[in-house]
Amino acid sequence: MEQTAKLIVDGKTYELPIVVGTEGERGIDISRLRQETGLITLDPGYANTGSCKSGITFMDGEKGILRYRGIPIEQLAEHSTFTETAYLLLNGELPTREQLTNFSILLNDHSLVHEDMREFFENFPRRAHPMGILSSMVNALRAFYPQLPESSEDENVNVMSTRLLSKVRTMAAMSYKISKGHKVVYPRHDLTYAANFLNMMFDSPVLPYRIDEVLVEGLNVFWILHADHEQNCSTAAVRLVGSARVNLYAAISSGISALWGPLHGGANQAVVEMLKEIQANNGDVKPFIKRAKDKKDPFRLMGFGHRVYKTYDPRARIMKKVCDKVLNRLKQKDELLDIAGKLEEIALKDPYFIDHNLYPNVDFYTGIFLQALGIPINMFTVMFAIGRLPGWISQWRESIDDPQWKLHRPRQIYTGSKERDYVPMKDRNSSKGKP
Ligand code: ACO
Repeated sequence: MEQTAKLIVDGKTYELPIVVGTEGERGIDISRLRQETGLITLDPGYANTGSCKSGITFMDGEKGILRYRGIPIEQLAEHSTFTETAYLLLNGELPTREQLTNFSILLNDHSLVHEDMREFFENFPRRAHPMGILSSMVNALRAFYPQLPESSEDENVNVMSTRLLSKVRTMAAMSYKISKGHKVVYPRHDLTYAANFLNMMFDSPVLPYRIDEVLVEGLNVFWILHADHEQNCSTAAVRLVGSARVNLYAAISSGISALWGPLHGGANQAVVEMLKEIQANNGDVKPFIKRAKDKKDPFRLMGFGHRVYKTYDPRARIMKKVCDKVLNRLKQKDELLDIAGKLEEIALKDPYFIDHNLYPNVDFYTGIFLQALGIPINMFTVMFAIGRLPGWISQWRESIDDPQWKLHRPRQIYTGSKERDYVPMKDRNSSKGKP
């Protein structure tokens, strides 16, 4: 029997259908609300709003569950590679050996970047933030590869998706090399996706890079953990911009811009900066905890809290283990990891953090891991962006095929001036308020 919710407005009762997902999640379908009642809903930040139905990623923030296409993140982190997980997200099923080989061949075929694009890279100011560069360059791909798909069935969608997955990785490493004034290292056909990236970043004619399998495995896990996260801010941006039927490159470029923010993907950089500040403060975490609780102080504990997770982020738990493994392998002791551990221990016992359900999120440990790999701090969010690509592309593909597709266009409750007349300049009283 169809479930409904009742809404009573001005004494009149309206029945609203309840939609049930495969994991039993329930939502009230208000798609006919305005048409039937003249009312809209108001939900700042969309915390209670489902913008679509999706079969890609399931998360339960109360229980700390994350699954891609039904498969728990813990199993993917243990057994899969980033390439295989990307295939899973894009196609809905794990690949056969042959499908995975073909996908890897395609990724290799598309890994080179148009030589003319180097000119672009070389003309950005050396100190430009790599996220700004990446977002611009991804948008520019449209100019270099103008052929666009006619429909989602078009083979060109696969080509564009693979091109993005492969080239963004090359472009990220390329922009790093150029920012250092070093020779660009090209992708190699004999290396896997993650190993290739590390080699493009760190190989040099005077100091060949030695690929370490523990680091490669760590990077695979890092990217798997970031591969999708349902309707987060940047994915919502990709879907929203994509809903205007822009090309895939433009939609992904907007996702990259959204990810840049310190409340979203930029948090991994903000965490390390915060940990370094604590380190400079003799490693004393208490003043930082105090500041985070002070409502008059805008400071927040970076890497803590999440819109959906109200318990420990399952990705943070996996990332912490990866950090330990990689630091052990490198025989490094990172004081920042000790500070992070101390911060976590104190915060998790503090009534403020308990009452507000604030637990470490994925970004809490990723910065330490990336630093151990040798990734410069301003490229941390770029690393996140490479990982999030399969999710953004899958969500874009799902949205363009959605039979309920609509241009995204929220409404508002207007709170400005009532109608008033235009006042000619000569009659305006300049002493009354500022423009
Ligand atoms: N430190 C201190 N207090 C916090 C924190 C924090 N990190 N996060 C939330 N709070 C408090 C708020 O002050 C607010 O308190 P109040 O109700 O007493 O006024 C309450 O918790 C709710 O905060 P909101 O901002 O409304 O919660 P929201 O769900 O919008 O925030 C967010 C989620 C933005 C991630 C927030 O927790 C935050 O700013 N965290 C720090 C930045 C961060 O780590 N971002 C990465 C997120 S994961 C990702 O994007 C990959």
